[in-house]
Amino acid sequence: MTQETKRIGVLTSGGDCSGLNTAIRAVVFSAITRGWEVYGIHNATDGLIARPLDYRKLTMADFEFPFAALGGTMLGTNNSGNPYRVTRSDGMVQEITEDELLPRFKDGVEQLGLSALVVIGGDGSMAIVSKYCKAAGISMIGIPKTIDNDAPGTELAIGFATARSVVTDALDKLDTTASSHHRVMIAEVMGRGAGHLALESAIAGFADVALIPEIPYTYEHVVDRLKASFAAGKKHALVVIAEGIKKPDGQLSYATNGRTFGGVSAYFAEQLGKDGFNVRANVLGHIQRAGQPIAEDRILASAFAVHAVDLLAAGQNNRVVVYRNGRVSDEDLDAILNLANSPVDPNGPMVQTARSLGIYVGEK
Ligand code: F6P
Repeated sequence: MTQETKRIGVLTSGGDCSGLNTAIRAVVFSAITRGWEVYGIHNATDGLIARPLDYRKLTMADFEFPFAALGGTMLGTNNSGNPYRVTRSDGMVQEITEDELLPRFKDGVEQLGLSALVVIGGDGSMAIVSKYCKAAGISMIGIPKTIDNDAPGTELAIGFATARSVVTDALDKLDTTASSHHRVMIAEVMGRGAGHLALESAIAGFADVALIPEIPYTYEHVVDRLKASFAAGKKHALVVIAEGIKKPDGQLSYATNGRTFGGVSAYFAEQLGKDGFNVRANVLGHIQRAGQPIAEDRILASAFAVHAVDLLAAGQNNRVVVYRNGRVSDEDLDAILNLANSPVDPNGPMVQTARSLGIYVGEK
């Protein structure tokens, strides 16, 4: 390695989404174009903590069509929330102690000769990896991704646009079968505590009701809205529910793992059924995190990655790439991590658009 040659690492961390492979590709292409070397770290930071180390050197040949245009992440990821159980690509899990964690990470970085790490992840992952990088004395640049689109400090994160398209496509499909059977069709949409995915998909998918965590609703208003739809001559209705809304009793619904949300649509199906509607509930699930990234995500992922490599070339450290007002820029990572997540603004343009279209978005 010459003095000008940098060897950088790239990893994906947290839940996967579409557009991650495009971002990895763009990191590799822009770094190699500068004469640098790129090592892909497997399974988030686990690849640097596992022994033997779990990584691969990446070249342009690794991205022959169609790989960069596929969903998922070619490097693997980890959102288990347990840093002491290290997953390897061969399926083995290694248990490590708290004392071993940071020294192993630092040693991994040194063994590979990395000067910087590009971390494509959510804000939770970035907070953890930034702690590791500081302890190891390695530069870090973050690139935000999440289908929830609630990453702090950025208007867009990788994966949101494709997920919104996937949900809209599902709503179009549910629409036809609902219409054939004169049903109320419920679609439960991911997003944790944020309603961006549910709300924007509901607008795109011509829904009658969109319930999101940011805005309180009443069950009675949902029923009134559905009755009004049928009374106006519609032969079916579409209800989009964000997984993170509370039931009318104030309780959240958790998936069987007890950690993530899921199942709130079953409550509504039961209640609406009791109230005389012909109703079916659909949990769209992890399909929302999959599929070929649409052009919007590929462009965002590419622009984010190029900006991240430019930052490293300029000697920057501890920055996160963001998208605001139509431009890609960057912010101090610690400052961004101190911000709250970005929920839907109850008085913002998306909610106003939905309401002007007659969608019941809660309250009244
Ligand atoms: O944060 C992304 C997300 O897809 C959420 O919308 C969802 O609640 C969660 O991850 C699901 O996580 P897991 O992959 O662990 O089931």
